[in-house]
Amino acid sequence: MTAPGTRYTTRELTDGTWTDFVALVEANNGVWGGCWCIGFHPEGLPSDATAERNRDLKRRHVDDATVHQVLVYDAERCVGWCQYGSPAELPNIKNAASYAKELVELPDWRIGCIFTDRAHRGQGVARAALQGALDAIRARGGGVVEAYPEQLEDRPPQRGAYLHTGPESLFTDFGFVRDRRIAKWRWVMRLQLGGT
Ligand SMILES: CC(C)(COP(=O)(O)OP(=O)(O)OC[C@H]1O[C@@H](n2cnc3c(N)ncnc32)[C@H](O)[C@@H]1OP(=O)(O)O)[C@@H](O)C(=O)NCCC(=O)NCCS
Repeated sequence: MTAPGTRYTTRELTDGTWTDFVALVEANNGVWGGCWCIGFHPEGLPSDATAERNRDLKRRHVDDATVHQVLVYDAERCVGWCQYGSPAELPNIKNAASYAKELVELPDWRIGCIFTDRAHRGQGVARAALQGALDAIRARGGGVVEAYPEQLEDRPPQRGAYLHTGPESLFTDFGFVRDRRIAKWRWVMRLQLGGT
């Protein structure tokens, strides 16, 4: 699918796109030294987790169709992604204890990991990835979508590398609004997609 207004296209992470995803992760040292984007999945990231274990688990999620992840392509090169899924599929959010304290109702969907290749940052890749994830959620019936991005205002400028769950401004642009604070710089943000 073409990402509107950009040069990018998007595809889901599947058996057919696995090698593109692998090339991106390997070009970025496994992402955070080898997490392979497994942290939000039910298995999580125990302190003794190896990159090999994480890669195998991710591959198993692809085989079992228990992962939803939009990959962004610049021509034929995969340059970023946005993960999404139900709370059951993505139970391991950051600041989970703080999140649980004031929890009223779980959302239908969560935005999990968002990541752009180091050499492609600041060129709209994350924006295309989030657009792709929201389009995919809408196509699956929509509902309440939560994200857990990082506040930027009143804070020194942050390198992209430190914006683990994405910049708040990006989510604001798509209509997400603050629900509650769960860490010094992290918010629960919500968006109703489709329906009421
Ligand atoms: C955060 C990150 C995803 C942003 O990706 P990106 O492709 O560079 O973002 P985009 O170019 O699409 O920017 C979209 C918007 O986000 C905001 N933004 C992006 N990077 C930003 C930064 N470093 N500081 C402030 N705002 C930023 C801006 O609002 C931007 O809109 P604008 O260009 O109109 O100003 C990227 O820096 C990254 O991958 N960081 C590492 C994240 C990570 O470790 N993920 C794994 C988690 S386990």
